Amino acid sequence: MQTACLVVRESRPLHGTTTLTGAKNAALVMMASLILTRGKSILYNVPFSTDIRHMAQLLQQLGAELFYDKDMQTLYVDTAHIRHYHVEYAMMKKMRASVLVMGPLLARFGTVSIALPGGCVIGDRPINYHLQSFEKMGAQITQVGEMISATISKAHSADIILEYPSVGATENILMLAVQTEGITRIVNAALEPEVLDFIVLLQKMGAHISIVPPATIEIEGVDELRPIEHTVINDRLEAGSLLLAAAITGGVIHLPNAPARSLELFLYKLQEMGHSVIIGQDNIGITLHATQEPKAVSFKTGPHPSFPTDLQAPMMVAQVVADGESVIEETVFESRLLHVRELQKMGAHITVEHNRAIVRGIEKLYGGPVIATDIRASCALVLAGLVAQGTTIITGIHHWRRGYHDLEGKLRHLGANIEIVGGQSIIFQDELRELKDVVL
Ligand code: EPZ
Repeated sequence: MQTACLVVRESRPLHGTTTLTGAKNAALVMMASLILTRGKSILYNVPFSTDIRHMAQLLQQLGAELFYDKDMQTLYVDTAHIRHYHVEYAMMKKMRASVLVMGPLLARFGTVSIALPGGCVIGDRPINYHLQSFEKMGAQITQVGEMISATISKAHSADIILEYPSVGATENILMLAVQTEGITRIVNAALEPEVLDFIVLLQKMGAHISIVPPATIEIEGVDELRPIEHTVINDRLEAGSLLLAAAITGGVIHLPNAPARSLELFLYKLQEMGHSVIIGQDNIGITLHATQEPKAVSFKTGPHPSFPTDLQAPMMVAQVVADGESVIEETVFESRLLHVRELQKMGAHITVEHNRAIVRGIEKLYGGPVIATDIRASCALVLAGLVAQGTTIITGIHHWRRGYHDLEGKLRHLGANIEIVGGQSIIFQDELRELKDVVL
């Protein structure tokens, strides 16, 4: 079978309106948190991507029953019969977010065994903050090679100070603390929009959570959490990618359900480039009219509300074809500049010094064979292909499929010349048993 690849050809300015799907980085942790409940929950606006499929398979391995309605983008999950608390090695290695079942399994069973999720090209991505926090709450953790097991006879509340506002660690601690007697505090917590939406879901379950400025989360444990229905927030990263596609091709785009409030610094930087950005009422909805003479801007990634690291690679492409010099500093992951090499193959003028990329804007990029190294790098290469002369062939598109729900279809709808060639479409349904009676 031919290896699947994205084929992108030089496209005219993108024009039009499209909607967003649910945020992968909210949906994944929400799915894991359903382990805390015993019954049938429904998640709406769940993206159809391979990371979601893998999390569904993981929950199924633990004993959950799931049904995904692809047309409605709705996930039905029955957790009443979850009875396992060991996650298979192969499953842990499929997706880093699998570490997010540690907190809820510890809360439900008092024990869990996983394999280290492992690093990836963007960095080592250790889970020391997660493990240290669980130990502070009473867990006994042993590690043999890559296998980790944790047991907790009676979790106790604690003051947990995160030396870095880790998204995953904040979420994992939340899922143990919501059912731990007493008040647990997470100081220097991550407060990304996806974390805030996750807190709303936990509160719907019956959790007692409050946020104390500037970045402390206080959790008062409760005895039981109930199944819920929840609509996942729209994906701000998909919104950023679509806005950049219009900006880079010199077009006009309207995203009627885009969460502008969660992209403030990113939108400010687009305006600094000279693009016109109009925000809808109540900060919902974004319209971008691209300037034909974009000016290069510099930016530095960091924890929210700083510039999002997940938009660094796509935003770099906008600098590659802008006028002037841009200095881009990646501070969240230690090696998240691998897309530079691929952009250089297309003619980009970029030099890298440690975690900084210095970009000098050029007139034209040239299409050719390139390799996607992570989810957001795949998006950057697609954006570059839209304005590169000729055809760009992108392999490594499993990254693209991990992070986006038919983004290629949305880009095509806006006028992009893009298609997936070869390989097989994602088979979702046959890997999940249907729920018999989904009555809530
Ligand atoms: C989440 O990853 C997202 N993934 C990432 O999105 C996102 O880039 C990242 O948060 C930052 O916003 C999901 O939500 C599934 P972190 P996470 O813990 O939780 C270090 C994408 O493309 N660290 O905030 O793994 C870590 O190595 C993905 O959608 C430790 O040192 O990110 C990194 O340098 C990529 N020890 C920094 O903190 C720990 O125990 C931030 O990591 C945990 C993290």
